[in-house]
Amino acid sequence: MEERADAVVAAAVARGHVDGVADVAQALPTSFVPDLIGWPTDGREHLLRWAGATFDSLGPVNGQTIRSTPATVGMLRFARSVVRRRDVLPGSMGADLLERVDRGELREDACPALMVDYLAPSLDTTISAIASTMLLLARHPGQWRRLQDDPDLVPNAVNEVVRIESPLRAFARSLDRDAEVGGVQLTAGTRVVVFYASANRDERFWDDPTTFDVTRDATPQLGFGQGAHGCAGQGLARLETQSILRSLLARVERIELAGTPVWGVNNIIHKLDELPLRLVAKEGARS
Ligand code: HEM
Repeated sequence: MEERADAVVAAAVARGHVDGVADVAQALPTSFVPDLIGWPTDGREHLLRWAGATFDSLGPVNGQTIRSTPATVGMLRFARSVVRRRDVLPGSMGADLLERVDRGELREDACPALMVDYLAPSLDTTISAIASTMLLLARHPGQWRRLQDDPDLVPNAVNEVVRIESPLRAFARSLDRDAEVGGVQLTAGTRVVVFYASANRDERFWDDPTTFDVTRDATPQLGFGQGAHGCAGQGLARLETQSILRSLLARVERIELAGTPVWGVNNIIHKLDELPLRLVAKEGARS
């Protein structure tokens, strides 16, 4: 992971001016989890569009949902053909699933959704966290210097990015029993929306919640959810984001904004579409 992250950052630093999303943030998420799952390498060009559409389809029914439906169906259809053709990379999670099918431990028609359910939430979320890390550190050079002085703050800084920018804004839940939340009585069966992004900036819990501060204890942030259905990939997402940040700290003197960042439109995901940056190389950084 560190090696791949460092190669991505080294190439970006050599270019100097980059799009932080396309040239840096997308690199690890679009290769790591697809490799783990065994997604065929010749079927990856649509992944970002398909995965973004999957999140759009989870939101309220609106124009985004309707426009994204063909792409959502496209991802599942492709996964079905991967399973039918047994076209998964050897030694991958997908290969493991198919071996279980052969042993009669799993139904074949369960495999496409299992693959998509792990792959789709791994892409835009992590790309968003990595891109937001770079944007925040370009906008807050004092925080960048704190990290340069003390790289041990990196894991906490990643929690702080996920807190303040919450790549996944909200998910819904159905109550399985009556409950009271914030003085409001709710009955079993009610559908509620859990806004992670709002909880992460709740002034009743956080001091000065709109300030980006890599030294605050951001451990209790809720950007990965929590409990039985908390994010299954949070360890990997943290590793990917931390690896890129560590390489940036090793190779870059400062990150400068070189244009106006463009935020994407999605019902669930809070993400950057474009992030024009100038990466100023450290003198004497290894090539
Ligand atoms: C910064 C990046 C990420 C963020 C902010 C994020 C956030 C979340 C959130 C908020 C949930 C819902 C938790 C809940 O309902 O309580 C979730 C679920 C999930 N995430 Fe992530 N995620 C990220 C990266 C990943 C990655 C890299 C993977 C896969 C490798 C992944 C796989 C999943 C899966 C499979 C679930 C469903 C868990 C379940 O329902 O049991 N996520 N994620």
